[in-house]
Amino acid sequence: MSELLLLNGPNLGILGRREPEVYGTDTLADIEAAVAAEVAGRGWKVVSVQRESEGQLIEAVQDAWDGSVGAIVNPGALMIAGWGLRDALAAYPRPFVEVHLSNVWARESFRHESVLAPIASGVIVGLGALGYRLAAQALLAKVPAS
Ligand code: DQA
Repeated sequence: MSELLLLNGPNLGILGRREPEVYGTDTLADIEAAVAAEVAGRGWKVVSVQRESEGQLIEAVQDAWDGSVGAIVNPGALMIAGWGLRDALAAYPRPFVEVHLSNVWARESFRHESVLAPIASGVIVGLGALGYRLAAQALLAKVPAS
């Protein structure tokens, strides 16, 4: 079965309780279920990895080389200077979509640049948990049916 990597960086395991006025009330489990529902028709299995440290996220990307069709990545604050994660995703031989729950452009200026964005297939910001569903739809459209 083909796998879709759902990768979430630091502080995203506490979604639902973390600043709900900024990030919404959906938990990571809710998001996992929503993405799984979105891609079930294609027979894709969602492999969800959330880690607090960059090295572990890099390992998850490397582990997904074989068998995954693509990735949805919310790097959290690693968007700002996660160069190692960026290099891992640059080498990752599948498309990935970057997602941010909040509209980073409407927030502090240090969130206005992402080191991942230039190599992502697309970037979705500010739509809350819906952004993950839309990212899944984008990958469904982008990855040829096998
Ligand atoms: C975030 C935005 C980042 O700036 C922040 O550090 C996060 C969450 C988002 O989903 O809106 O941890 O990636």
